[in-house]
Amino acid sequence: MSETQRVAILISGGGSNMLALVRDMTGDHPCRPVLVASNDPAAGGLARAAGLGIPTAAVDHKPFGRDREAFEAALSERLEAARPDIICLAGFMRILTPAFIARWEGRMLNIHPSLLPKYRGLHTHARAIEAGDAEHGVSVHEVTAELDGGPVLGQARVPVHPGDTPEVLAARVLEQEHRLYPMVLRRFAIGDRTPIRL
Ligand code: GRF
Repeated sequence: MSETQRVAILISGGGSNMLALVRDMTGDHPCRPVLVASNDPAAGGLARAAGLGIPTAAVDHKPFGRDREAFEAALSERLEAARPDIICLAGFMRILTPAFIARWEGRMLNIHPSLLPKYRGLHTHARAIEAGDAEHGVSVHEVTAELDGGPVLGQARVPVHPGDTPEVLAARVLEQEHRLYPMVLRRFAIGDRTPIRL
């Protein structure tokens, strides 16, 4: 089996997608988690990762104010030390600079709760409901300098039901996120970029 690929996961919150990825990275999976890092020291996902014995890092973005480069330099120090081959953004809520993205381009994935290219940015569930869409879903894509704009590696669709609130729809999408992201990472890690459609 080729060399195990080292995966770093960046989170900002509860880390349910991080957990789904970590739980899948066992046995014959070509990857293993080597770091879970967050821009929020209070992110619940950090304790969950630590509980699973995964090294963690918290780099609070707030002291850096608007200086994104300085925050990213501090984050990169922890990241580089873990020597990741792949970075998975999983509920990571900071906009990354083109320089950071260029450093990891081709090896960084993100999960976005919409059927890209629809609804880039925030509040995707409310926007789908507002638009009267019959379908919504989630995309996993390669990260490029274009926000939520890189090549799509996988999508999962869910129905939008009449009366759905953004919270109810988000929960329906989240279930699919936890299926899709691990499947995409397995395929991406062996160099297969054939999009997955669920
Ligand atoms: C999820 O809805 C995901 O689509 C978005 O961040 C949210 C929280 O994810 N990217 P998690 O539970 O922290 O993985």
